[in-house]
Amino acid sequence: MKNPVLKKTLSRWVASMAFVVSSLVWAANGVDLNQSPEVSSASEGSIHIPKEQEKMALNYVNQPPMIPHSVEGYQITTNTNRCLQCHGVENYRTTGAPRVSPTHFMDATGKVLGEVAPNRYFCLQCHVPQSDAAPIIENTFTPSKGFGK
Ligand code: HEC
Ligand code: HEC
Repeated sequence: MKNPVLKKTLSRWVASMAFVVSSLVWAANGVDLNQSPEVSSASEGSIHIPKEQEKMALNYVNQPPMIPHSVEGYQITTNTNRCLQCHGVENYRTTGAPRVSPTHFMDATGKVLGEVAPNRYFCLQCHVPQSDAAPIIENTFTPSKGFGK
């Protein structure tokens, strides 16, 4: 090709098309496990995030377990739920994340649904990233018998 400007423009165009195509592949697939900075492909076909922290002990039966990893930048909107992209039933086997439990499929009336119930959709209402911070207000809470450290 003789015209260097045209050549440059063309190669930019090719690069941007490659980007569009890969975005489309991603959209069709629905899950982009490489989006998250902590994801690393350990071996072919299995994607695990490295352990960031040990799990903290629960304090009572039915406590929502705390989140042992960062949730920075994880979006939960009506269209996308980053948490379910790892913890959902479709994905947990490839991501190695603990699967959302069956209770998460039950709606407020006790009916079991085919997908995560609306009242369990916004994960961070109940699950919070764990932190070893000192309590803001002193309290006398002690874990139930057999729980805690
Ligand atoms: C990139 C994949 C990935 C994403 C995204 C992700 N998690 Fe996790 N999560 C994991 C893995 C893997 C573990 C297990 C870590 C371990 O055992 O050390 C885990 C552990 C947890 C646990 C602890 C479960 C238990 O039984 O103790 C909770 C709760 C949790 N995640 C909630 C969330 C929430 C809420 C979000 C969204 C804000 C989220 N996760 C997003 C991979 C993910
Ligand atoms: C209304 C509160 C609530 C919401 C919202 C909620 N959870 Fe939970 N979650 C719990 C409780 C309570 C438990 C422990 C008992 C149980 O399994 O129901 C739990 C357990 C879990 C576990 C551990 C399962 C196991 O077998 O040990 C994971 C993983 C989890 N939740 C992920 C999620 C994700 C992802 C979302 C968002 C899609 C979510 N949760 C939304 C309350 C909630």
